[in-house]
Amino acid sequence: MSILLTGGVGYIGSHAAVTLAQIGHKVVLYDNLSNSRADVVSRLARILGHAPVLIEGDVRDTELLAQTLRTYSVSAVMHFAGLKAVGESVAQPLAYYDNNVTGTQCLVRAMRRCGVRKLVFSSSATVYGEPQYLPLDEKHPTHAVNPYGRSKLHVEEMLSDLAVSDADWRIACLRYFNPVGAHSSGLIGEDPNGTPNNLMPYIAQVATGRRDRLSVFGGDYDTPDGTGVRDYIHVTDLADGHLAALNFLGRDDAAGWHAFNLGTGTGHSVLEVIQAFERASGMNVPYEIVARRPGDVASSYASSDKARQILGWQAGVRLDEMCISAWRWQQHCAQL
Ligand code: NAD
Ligand code: WQD
Repeated sequence: MSILLTGGVGYIGSHAAVTLAQIGHKVVLYDNLSNSRADVVSRLARILGHAPVLIEGDVRDTELLAQTLRTYSVSAVMHFAGLKAVGESVAQPLAYYDNNVTGTQCLVRAMRRCGVRKLVFSSSATVYGEPQYLPLDEKHPTHAVNPYGRSKLHVEEMLSDLAVSDADWRIACLRYFNPVGAHSSGLIGEDPNGTPNNLMPYIAQVATGRRDRLSVFGGDYDTPDGTGVRDYIHVTDLADGHLAALNFLGRDDAAGWHAFNLGTGTGHSVLEVIQAFERASGMNVPYEIVARRPGDVASSYASSDKARQILGWQAGVRLDEMCISAWRWQQHCAQL
């Protein structure tokens, strides 16, 4: 099957490209390279033995999208393209609504025009906001608390409306928890520009000595050790979840709109992640506990029962292995 991956050069899209290509799907990457580098394609070629097609373009360019869908006889789309930094979204909300909401609108227009109606969308656990209960299941009320989260929620609602309006659409919104780690080759991984916002890349940069110490945001949460608890999921497990969603969309009972959590179901505290990374790397990760980060919740972790029951998918990689792969990537990355 020929599958278009918008944002396919980015962190999660590039790992999904490997999973899909390795079982024989033809992948077409479509990316404006605003948060990624074209050399990822040559790294993918080293993993796969062939380079996937890259179309350099923006998801807001409906014409180029339609032309790409036709040229490569695309049957399904995985939509990773978008902006994802919470703090930046507060400072530049219009950029977030434009890229994430308008971008998706342009994409589904192009898809409709070309008769492509299978879509897997990169959503986020951020759509749940402050948990009212744990683990978070898909029935938990949604209440995004920042422009990034609201842009994801708007897209989910738009896609749900679209599926109601036309029974031919098959749409899976995958709500990722905290993706971390890298491909076992060490050739692709997460490579944030500037100071990392997220925990794992920050720890990795402290372990290499690129940064002095980690600031642990809050030590007085109502959690076993007082630090924030999250559901970290390995990026290749996430990629497998995309393949499972794609297979599901091919089934007779898959018409309409569906939301699935992709998490492990297990929460780990910041201190547990630091300790696991120290074990994985053999390096010291100095840290200090500082004030809470505004907007953070104490704990967030998934119930992935729905994904297990309907998609037949379950995460398998544990925290230690997540850290080993992140460290391997960090060392590769640092050498280049
Ligand atoms: P990423 O920034 O590494 O990848 C996104 C890719 O999309 C980049 O290659 C970027 O160049 C491209 N892109 C951005 N805007 C575009 C546009 N207008 N047109 C074409 N390409 C564009 O991010 P990622 O971590 O791989 O995230 C992928 C998706 O998953 C995003 O939609 C993100 O919101 C979502 N998500 C990520 C996380 C996470 O923690 N990484 C968690 C939940 C959801
Ligand atoms: C994890 C834990 C922090 C950095 C974010 C987005 C969310 C989703 C995933 C896209 C928390 C603590 C972090 C640091 C720290 N992205 N921490 N020091 O906040 O759960 O989720 O990424 O959809 O929308 O909000 O992930 O990795 O930033 O934080 O102590 O330097 O690590 O307080 O407890 P988060 P994170």
